[in-house]
Amino acid sequence: MQIIREAGAMQRYVEEQRRIGRSIGLVPTMGALHDGHLSLLRRCRADNDVAVMTLFVNPKQFDRSEDLARYPRDLARDADLAAAAGTDAIYHPAMEEMYPGGYATYVIVEGLTDRWEGATRPGHFRGVATVCTKLFAVCRPHRAYFGQKDYQQSLVIRRLVADLNLGFEIVVLPTVREADGLALSSRNALLGPDERRQARVVSQALFAAQAAVRSGERDAEKLRGDIEARIRSASLAVVDYAAVCHPDTLEPLTHISGRAVALAAARFGAVRLIDNVLLDG
Ligand code: PAF
Repeated sequence: MQIIREAGAMQRYVEEQRRIGRSIGLVPTMGALHDGHLSLLRRCRADNDVAVMTLFVNPKQFDRSEDLARYPRDLARDADLAAAAGTDAIYHPAMEEMYPGGYATYVIVEGLTDRWEGATRPGHFRGVATVCTKLFAVCRPHRAYFGQKDYQQSLVIRRLVADLNLGFEIVVLPTVREADGLALSSRNALLGPDERRQARVVSQALFAAQAAVRSGERDAEKLRGDIEARIRSASLAVVDYAAVCHPDTLEPLTHISGRAVALAAARFGAVRLIDNVLLDG
């Protein structure tokens, strides 16, 4: 497995693979790999001739500098895990390579980014959309893989790829969870023991909403309120939002009459967790 640090070298690598007719799969990551990333990497390996992972902790998508400073980093471990999952190349640019002095270009996806993560983390999606556009330009994938855990992000990326005519496929894979339901996240490692015990309340609240819809509940406001109340019942939880929305536009719903998505974000101490489940009304 190669680790490539320069955009030009990475572009030459993928152009050569494309020239000889190979398909390129891409898994963008910020490292701190867990089983959720590994499921993306394995699927990428299975679907494509060449499996590429990017590893770059993108400062432009962090709205709080403490969060960026604490983000776990371990290149040797991540490289071992990526290699074991069949990755052919890691693109791991330095900060200066990604955002050299004078850098001035940003990608903004309007509308979809107004609510939820976009509203609670100003600038977050501008950072995500910008870095992903750059990673796509360098790695020129035929397919790129994202996790459903970052549901709004996956919609933003789909919109961006469609609007900019990038012409490749976005594959979104289901959230991978701990045995107690907690969605895997690189941030879980930062939870203290009590926070970790209580953090499962987020997925429990969302699964309870899913079960309620299966049993016939259609009042989206009630479902939303129940999700929020259940998360608040954990003494360490501070709810950023709980929402029941249209699965494509993320507009809040009052009534469920088809597909929907329930989203939640809550902080446990300094650690902010997000999760979601699809609802089938
Ligand atoms: O989901 C992530 O890890 C990041 O937002 C991404 C897509 C790698 C962009 O930095």
